[in-house]
Amino acid sequence: MRLFFESAPGLSREEILNRSLETMVDVIDLTQALAAAHDMNAIMDIVRHGARDLTGADGATFVLREGEYCYYADEDAIQPLWKGSRFPMSDCVSGWAMSHHQPVVIPDIYKDRRVPQAVYEPTFVRGLAVVPIRSDNPLGAIGCYWSSRYEATPFQVRLIQILANTAAIAMENVHYELELSSKAGLLEKAFESTLLSISRMIDLRDAYTSGHQRCVGIIAKRIAEFLGYPSDHCQALYWAGIVHDVGKIAIPAEILSKPARLTAIEFKLIQSHAQTGYEILRDVDMPFPIADSVRQHHERLDGSGYPQGLSGEAILNEARILAVADVFEAMVSHRPYRPALGYEAALAELLEWRGVWFDPAVVDALVHLIEVDGFRVPH
Ligand SMILES: [Fe+2]
Repeated sequence: MRLFFESAPGLSREEILNRSLETMVDVIDLTQALAAAHDMNAIMDIVRHGARDLTGADGATFVLREGEYCYYADEDAIQPLWKGSRFPMSDCVSGWAMSHHQPVVIPDIYKDRRVPQAVYEPTFVRGLAVVPIRSDNPLGAIGCYWSSRYEATPFQVRLIQILANTAAIAMENVHYELELSSKAGLLEKAFESTLLSISRMIDLRDAYTSGHQRCVGIIAKRIAEFLGYPSDHCQALYWAGIVHDVGKIAIPAEILSKPARLTAIEFKLIQSHAQTGYEILRDVDMPFPIADSVRQHHERLDGSGYPQGLSGEAILNEARILAVADVFEAMVSHRPYRPALGYEAALAELLEWRGVWFDPAVVDALVHLIEVDGFRVPH
């Protein structure tokens, strides 16, 4: 453990300077570590070790304020202190430091009326220094303890205070991060339920393909996962899947569910759903090209698809995944005018058009998912 230079008389000027520099480097390291901490456990871990290292104390505690109580959340000491205990603010030294918004230095606990003797008697503590974490409306306190009579120097107190101030900023950051991520989670849920409602609207208009979009979303997400896309990208593919036929909202229901053969005009009208879907979704602000993927989900690698007749690399990867998921789901689903194709026949059909209509890597991914991983479409 590092000796503190102010309490080590007999050191040369150079030694004092070196130790001061070492302490400064330690403080910078601790500050950087706290700035990078993303949860309370990491903060407490840094503080309890840091407080001892900086001061040379025999023990350190990390205390959190819980209303009118002090919660001794963590400690690092030569013998157990009060980890896990709660004391009223009015009945402990940390509480005093918090309610008076200032550090406390007590060289000998048996000579200070602020110390609850019964709490300290079973411990090794004789001298202590406690600083509040954030002086304005304190969040907690950091305590340093010595096993013999000891008066912490103003410089040591200053060091603990720097640690406490930095910990306060780190705790506020963790709080804001948690708040932000829970708000982002709520927003994402709201976004997803909006898309699902739109998806159900299409289902209502086209009873034959009810549930098709949701299944396409699930298949597309699984393919993306298999291909190693980041998780938020896979989720975006699920969302693109559940609304990929949203453009059908503009097509008369009689045409959508017409059991007989479509006329050329009706077929053209049905084909317009890809472009209409794009028009509906293009203003949705997303970091992923959902609207463009929807527009391109009927494009084919050889340029024979619609609405733009794109080919090869011009088709988005996301749209290629949607295309395979879409066709496969349709083939393995039962329709009133035809029975469902079995998985084997559906995969054979995809393999026949592998590299012609469909992206080979996407077809291979689905074949692997079905044949090796046993994936089944959750109808
Ligand atoms: Fe479609």
